[in-house]
Formats: sequence, structure tokens, C-alpha cells
Amino acid sequence: MKIANTADEAYAHIDHWRREGQRIGLVPTMGALHQGHLSLATRSCQECDITAVTIFVNPTQFGPHEDFSRYPRTLEQDLKMLQELGVDLVFTPSNERLYPNGYSTYVSPPDVAKPLEGVFRPGHFRGVATIVLKLFQILPANIAYFGQKDFQQLVVIQRMAEDLNIPIRVVGCPTVRESDGLAMSSRNRYLDPKQRFAAASLWKALSAAQQMLLEGNREVKQLEEVMQQTLYREGAEKIEYARVVDSHWLTDLTTVDRPAVALIAAYVGSTRLIDNIMLETSQKQRHS
Ligand code: PAJ
Repeated sequence: MKIANTADEAYAHIDHWRREGQRIGLVPTMGALHQGHLSLATRSCQECDITAVTIFVNPTQFGPHEDFSRYPRTLEQDLKMLQELGVDLVFTPSNERLYPNGYSTYVSPPDVAKPLEGVFRPGHFRGVATIVLKLFQILPANIAYFGQKDFQQLVVIQRMAEDLNIPIRVVGCPTVRESDGLAMSSRNRYLDPKQRFAAASLWKALSAAQQMLLEGNREVKQLEEVMQQTLYREGAEKIEYARVVDSHWLTDLTTVDRPAVALIAAYVGSTRLIDNIMLETSQKQRHS
């Protein structure tokens, strides 16, 4: 497994492989890897000849009062896991290399970045879009893999890739969950045992909305209400949003009359958690 610390090194590796006609998969991450991240890398290894993973805690996507400085950093362990999977290249640049003194160019993200996370984390998607575009330039892969866990991020990147004619296919991969439904996340490490139990409230709330819809109730207000009630009952402390929106444009809906997604952002203790589910309107469509 090759490890590159500079953009030039990383680009040279990818350029070499591309010239050989190899199909390249890219998995951008911020490290502190778990099974969710590894599922993306595994899929890339299955579908591509070469898999490149990036590990970079991107400062520009964190707000001034967010957890950038205490975000978990477990590089040695991460590299071991990626080596075991058979990953070909890991790009682990320093902040100074990606954002040197005088750095001032940022991507203005598409409109799908405005609602939901856009309201509560202003500037977040500007930072995400900027770093992802930079990574796409440094590691010009054929396919890039992102998790549906961060549903809005996936939609933002897909839109950006389309709008800016980026020749990389952006693929969304299913959310990997713990046995009680909690979506795996690097931030779950912040939770103490009691909070860890309460964290399952997000999945319980999403499941309650899905169940209500399957029972024939398509009213968005009522679906949102059942999510709120379930969240509070099951131990979430502060809800930022618990919404049902159009899954393509993330716009408001009054009834579920087109493909829709339910999304939640809520705090358990001081840890901010997000999760979502693509809503199914009939049992038949369900895959599992
Ligand atoms: P990070 O939170 O490290 O996530 C890296 C990738 O793993 C993202 O595409 C995310 O959606 C995916 N992922 C996280 N948890 C997952 C889970 N439980 N199941 C499936 N996939 C999961 O997202 C970021 O980093 C950053 O914003 C990044 C895109 C790297 C830009 O800095």
C-alpha cells in the first residue's frame, strides 16, 4: 500500500495507473475509520482495479465552535485496516499542504446545500465542496464512493459533479449500522454508555416514520411529529431538525407523493448526530 503526503505524489501515482488503463476508485474520509468507511473501500476494491482512500480532517468544513480540534485521529490503526482490505493508495496530507498561507479559493455549493445542515452548520458544505473538488483534482478517479449516512453531503457532491462537469461518477453506498440501528460514525466515540443507548433514538424515530408511511399515512406533518415524539421519548436532548423532504432536491413536501427522505439532526449530550432513511411507500419495494 502506497502512502502519499503531498498532492504531487498522490497525483503521480494515479496518473501512472490511469495511463495503464486501470479503473480507479476513490474513497474520501476524515479517518477514525469504522465499518461504514470500510464498506465504501470494500465496494471500491470490488468494482475497481485500484482503490485510493484519503484521510484528512478538513478544517474548512468545521464551524468555529465545532469539534475540529478534538475530532478523533487514529492514523496508525486506520492504515492497518486499509492495508488489510487491499487498498492501493492512502493520501494523508497536512493542513498546511492543502491550505497553505494565502489560500483563498472556495467552491460556492449548490442550492441543495441550503436547507437542513445548511441552516445549522453555515459554511459546512462550502468547506466540503471545496475539499472534495480539491481531492477530485489531486486523485482523478473514475468512481468516487460516498455514504448515504451523510445524505445531504452525497446530494451536494452529486450536484456539484454534474454542474461542474466533473468526469467522476459519484456513487452512494448504504449506511452501515450497529445492531440497535445506530448509524456508525466516528463521533459515536464521544458517547458514554447512557448516551450510547439514547443515540439509538434517531433510528427508532426514522423507523417509526417509515412504519407510519407503510400503514398509509402520507402527511409529512404527522410523520415529522412522530419522529419528534420518538426522539424525545427515547433520550435525544435537542432536535435541530426531523424532516421529510423531496429526496432529489431536498425541498419541502406536504404529502409523500414522490421519492422522499426523512432526515434527523439531534444532540445526545453534547454530541451532534445525524441520520436518515429513504422512505418506501409500500412493503413490496423494500429490499431487506
Ligand atoms: P467522514 O465522516 O469520515 O465520512 C467519510 C465517508 O464515509 C462519507 O462518504 C460518509 O458518508 C461515509 N460514512 C460515514 N459513516 C458511514 C456509515 N455508517 N455507513 C456508510 N458510510 C458511512 O464525510 C466526510 O468524512 C467528509 O465530509 C469528507 C467527504 C471526507 C470531506 O472532508
